[in-house]
Amino acid sequence: MIIFAHRGASKDKPENTLSAIEEAIKQQADAIEIDVFECKDEFVVIHDRWLQRTTTGHGKVENHTYAQLSQFDAGLGQPIPTLNQVLDMVNGKCELNIELKGVHQTAHLLDYIHPTHFDNTPILFSSFNHHVIKHIKQLKPDCKIGALTSSVPLNYAAFASELGAYSTHLDISFCTQAFVDDIHLRGMKAYVYTVDELEDIVLMNDMGVDGIFTNKPAFAKTVLSHMAQ
Ligand code: G3P
Ligand code: MG
Repeated sequence: MIIFAHRGASKDKPENTLSAIEEAIKQQADAIEIDVFECKDEFVVIHDRWLQRTTTGHGKVENHTYAQLSQFDAGLGQPIPTLNQVLDMVNGKCELNIELKGVHQTAHLLDYIHPTHFDNTPILFSSFNHHVIKHIKQLKPDCKIGALTSSVPLNYAAFASELGAYSTHLDISFCTQAFVDDIHLRGMKAYVYTVDELEDIVLMNDMGVDGIFTNKPAFAKTVLSHMAQ
């Protein structure tokens, strides 16, 4: 089971900041998940449309230039990172899952990511907006896409197969054995968010899930290594 550091190592460092990314690498996460929005002139790493929960700023991300956003504190005196800053820091040290939140310019995003980053770092694009990941796959068929869902559709993972997804990403509250088995029958990986508790890590492992998103990657790695003994 692979361990995704959810928003970086976000239990120990402010979510979606460079220190959370650095900490996730230090904790030997197999992959790092980040959330990405467009502002007026950059792709930035932040979870919410609005600035006030995680930064000292106010208002919507999309209404600011990066010069304006970079004045705000996203935790421990750090600015909101750009996607390129995260790509530079990860640079082949582990996999990267770019969750597309407020991203509409998909062609621009693919041009923005330098070819060396595509070469160096395995990138998985995911979104709750399936139109966006479908477009990514059309523009760059060798990209891996992950279909996020917070529901249990009647025909399980059929929607993700139709997209040509590499993986289906499930909310743990709606993760059933039938859903996981259906994902596997369709040849995809089953990744589950957000899994921080010992009991849930063991349960996901028992269900045969392929990966979990956790705010505590070091803890999850330790639990898995004990289970393997
Ligand atoms: O990508 C998995 C998970 O991060 C999806 O939910 O709200 O934490 O971005 P959220
Ligand atoms: Mg996310």
